[in-house]
Parts: sequence; structure tokens; C-alpha cells
Amino acid sequence: MKVLVDGEIVARSAVKVDMEDRGYQFGDGVYEVINVYDGVPFTLDEHIERLYRSAQEIGISINFESDHLKNDIRKLIQENDMKKGGLYLQVTRGVAPRTHQYLKDISSKLVAYPLPYKEMSESRSTGVTAITEQDLRWLRCDIKSLNLLYNIMIKQKAYEQGCFEAILIRDGVVTEGTSSNVFIIKNGTIYTHPATNLILNGITRQKLLEVYHENGWTFKEHPFTTQELLEADEVFVTSTTSEVVPVISIDGKDVNDGRPGSLTRKIQQAFSLTVKNETSSAVG
Ligand SMILES: Cc1ncc(COP(=O)(O)O)c(C=O)c1O
Repeated sequence: MKVLVDGEIVARSAVKVDMEDRGYQFGDGVYEVINVYDGVPFTLDEHIERLYRSAQEIGISINFESDHLKNDIRKLIQENDMKKGGLYLQVTRGVAPRTHQYLKDISSKLVAYPLPYKEMSESRSTGVTAITEQDLRWLRCDIKSLNLLYNIMIKQKAYEQGCFEAILIRDGVVTEGTSSNVFIIKNGTIYTHPATNLILNGITRQKLLEVYHENGWTFKEHPFTTQELLEADEVFVTSTTSEVVPVISIDGKDVNDGRPGSLTRKIQQAFSLTVKNETSSAVG
């Protein structure tokens, strides 16, 4: 595997991580996962823009111009002969003697590489199960930070119960999944939590809002309660690598009749079409 390290593409075996890298010690950094279709990175501009925003919010300055970084990513895809799957990209604050506070002149560290391919088509087709859990994360969930401790704890809990995702609830309101955004459909209207500090504004989420608009589907960025989740006609979760995944059971109870809903199916198809259009017209 070839890895992008601070502007250079090298073999994985050549990558060295310093024990005082602040990403390693504190999770002091930000990341992105970008999906590649047919060798083309989907919504690359949006992901890179979010990466720079996340970095800026925690005072990390990335050493590369965004256009330079985008070119490096395209090169990385080519060098790995990558056709489809996720590409992981992270930036840490850099290496410094271990203290909480930091000097502003340390140089950030960037790494990117292809993730192992995860086949999701069966889950997309049959739907998945989920649990609900309290959202006990910090109040800056809009930053795509490396600090994923609570997300990991709760995802593991879902996994150990044979579920795909845990849906997080804060003050009675559904925020998002541990690694996805959550949508419900009630009486033909699609709802999702507004893009505040309480959720990560998913790129898939953002693309879907465009897709709903184009198709004339009614949607509201409006908070909804646990009860509204459990009484929804349809529920689905979205993320870069999983795309649009129907949720057919929550906390052991069927969503509606326990099968993926018809509007969810249409949304999946419309999203696939958008991916196809955008990746076939893009220059790889
Ligand atoms: C907490 C959280 N919310 C939402 C998402 C979905 O974001 P995106 O569609 O950009 O992958 C993710 C993705 O990993 C996530 O970790």
C-alpha cells in the first residue's frame, strides 16, 4: 500500500510515527473519509473544505494549499490503483514535548491512505438494526476530531448486540449516529437534525438535501424526539462509506413493518444516480 505523508507518497513500511505526535498522545487532530467510485473521489471539494474548517476550529494550520492536497489525493488514488472504497485522511497538530498547551509554530502532520474495502450492498438492500443510547459527547460535534472515544464505546456496544449503529439521544432529541447522520420519514416528510454544534454535518447529509430538493421531496432540518424516531414510517442512516442504509429495527422493535420503506428506496436510487453523474463527469 502507498501512503501520502506530508506531500510525499511512500510505502506503508516507510511511515514512522513519533511517540510525541499530539495525534497519538491526545487525539489532537482532525480527519476525513472520502469515498472513491471508479477511481474518482466523490465530493472531494466538500471533504477538503470540511477538513480545513475542522482544523481551523481547533487552531491547526495545514501545511498545504487545498488544491495541492486535492492533487496529492488524486495521485494517491492512482498510485494505489484504487477503483472503489474509502480513503482516510488525517492531520495532527504535530510533534512536541508532551504538555497540554502547545507552541503555535509546530508543524502539522498529514497522512492519507486507502481503507480496506467494506461491502455494504447487502445492508443497503435488507436494512440494518440499531440501538438508542445517550449522547454524552462534548458540545463541538461539528468538528471532525480524532477524539472518538465515546463514539467508539457506543459503537462497540451496538456491535456486541449484533446491531449496525447506535442512535444518539441528547435531552430527548435524536442527534445522529456514532458514525452516521440519522433521518426519519413521517407522513411523506423527511426530517433530520439541523447542522448545529450537536452533530457532524455529513457530506452525504448535505448531498442528500440537494437530492431531496431536486426531486421535490419535502424535508425539514428539524430536531425530532426518541418517540418520533420510534414511531417513524421510515428511518435511515447515512455516511460516506455506507451511503444510505435503511434502519428496520430499533431497540429490538420493528420500524413500521420491519422492512426498508419505499421513499428510502427512492432516496437510495437518487443518491446513486448523483454519485454516478458526479463521478463520471469529474476528471479523476
Ligand atoms: C459522528 C458522525 N456523524 C455523521 C457522519 C457522516 O458524515 P459523512 O456523510 O460526511 O461521512 C460521520 C461519518 O463518519 C460521523 O462520524
